[in-house]
Amino acid sequence: MRIDVLTLFPNMINSYIGESIISRAIENKIIEVNVIDFRSFSASKHKKVDDSPYGGGSGMVLSVQPIHDCLISIEGYKEALKIMMTPQGKTYHQTDAYELTKVNHMIILCGHYEGYDERIRDLFDLEISIGDYVLTGGEIGALVLIDSISRLIPNVLNKGDSFKDDSFSSYMLEHPHYTRPQVFNGKAVPDVLLSGNHKEIEKWRQEQSLKRTKERRPDLLKRGDDNGKV
Ligand code: ADE
Repeated sequence: MRIDVLTLFPNMINSYIGESIISRAIENKIIEVNVIDFRSFSASKHKKVDDSPYGGGSGMVLSVQPIHDCLISIEGYKEALKIMMTPQGKTYHQTDAYELTKVNHMIILCGHYEGYDERIRDLFDLEISIGDYVLTGGEIGALVLIDSISRLIPNVLNKGDSFKDDSFSSYMLEHPHYTRPQVFNGKAVPDVLLSGNHKEIEKWRQEQSLKRTKERRPDLLKRGDDNGKV
């Protein structure tokens, strides 16, 4: 999978993808991430990428020219899935991460300032929001996409680090986990997990998963097929 990230702050992206699991996936050539500073495509003398809004008002608006020119410089941009990060986009869920694993080439635009010139929207296929809050820019959102999609691609996670039981992959939150010590500050690991009875353990986990989802995120159960697929 190839991902091109258009940003004014390449270091924000590079510092995250240069660490841990994502950097290993890049090293192993499972994913390729190109970070492009779209300021360098500005046709203005001082490499301006924003301007004041027509009609007046506070804040600056991202200009269409640098983004258009940056986009068309990317090889294969016509066929790529072009995504804009914006709080006005479709709210991102785990199901979208699964869908996006099927894409060979995506281009992600990170905005800054008050907003985008509306004509930028016409250059993109999809607008994504990572939640109902406003960030200073789209970089964190782009990283959320890169991270959540990458870990679903075969061989990105180690064999032991399964994503199959992830919260949200079946509209249920994950069951509780425990590791050593068996007792900590008087709090013991549930007996069933020490029983060695795999059928009972699985049953307990499913029950806990359902209980936790009902308590914390009942809305997820409504979203799933067949009342949550358990
Ligand atoms: N840019 C600013 N806020 C954002 C959000 N919530 N999601 C995606 N991009 C954004």
